[in-house]
Amino acid sequence: MRTPLLAGNWKLHKTVREAKELVEELHRAIGKLYEREVVVCPPFTALQAVSSILDGKTIKLGAQDLFWEEKGAYTGEVAPLMLKDVGCTYVIIGHSERRKYFSETDEWVNRKAKAALEAGLIPIICVGESLAQREEGKTVDVVTTQVQAALKDLTASQVERVVIAYEPIWAIGTGKNDSPVEAQKTVSTIRNVMAAQAGDESAGKVRILYGGSVKPDNIDSFMKERDIDGALVGGASLTCESFSRIVKYEA
Ligand code: PGA
Repeated sequence: MRTPLLAGNWKLHKTVREAKELVEELHRAIGKLYEREVVVCPPFTALQAVSSILDGKTIKLGAQDLFWEEKGAYTGEVAPLMLKDVGCTYVIIGHSERRKYFSETDEWVNRKAKAALEAGLIPIICVGESLAQREEGKTVDVVTTQVQAALKDLTASQVERVVIAYEPIWAIGTGKNDSPVEAQKTVSTIRNVMAAQAGDESAGKVRILYGGSVKPDNIDSFMKERDIDGALVGGASLTCESFSRIVKYEA
């Protein structure tokens, strides 16, 4: 009942030409997929170009961040409606790299999530623990705090539309993925946290992704887990060969 979602986070990669080439290749390789959603999140500079070649069926467009204000003197920022205008359906919010390098706080993540929802964008909200927190047994506390803060003051119908990406920080870009069984436990905790706020029915509709060194050779085992509804993929989303295999996972 939850449509699986496979999202590629291209981070700081790809010129306009490279972005278009990759999407054209992906169209050919993926073809028509039923009951699976595929999203690519290019850098801002390539959104328009990618949007112009999407066929409206196979692949949807996402951005990697936004700002919560509609307009004004905020040099360097991009507003929610600007992303809608260029054809985005999704937007990643609170990625650990933004939290780490750009000092994003839980409060900012909450403001961004609200602004995205109000503009009709679907936020993909990232949460996850560091290696030290994992080793201290704090994973549940950390993700609980992050999820509660991100969803603060959202209504149940807003919560239903959110996507959560559980990404243990130590697994991002390291080639060391979490075990599917451990990820399932944390993802199930996240669903319970959401149920406490929005009720079982709404929490049951939320898609929760795993992210962190997802590759063609481990996606199938993640997708076999009951509560894992897809993946947020960094490095392995940069080539057609690996990302198309990931979206064609077998569970
Ligand atoms: P990775 O990145 O797949 O390269 O580990 C995941 C992410 O940062 O979303």
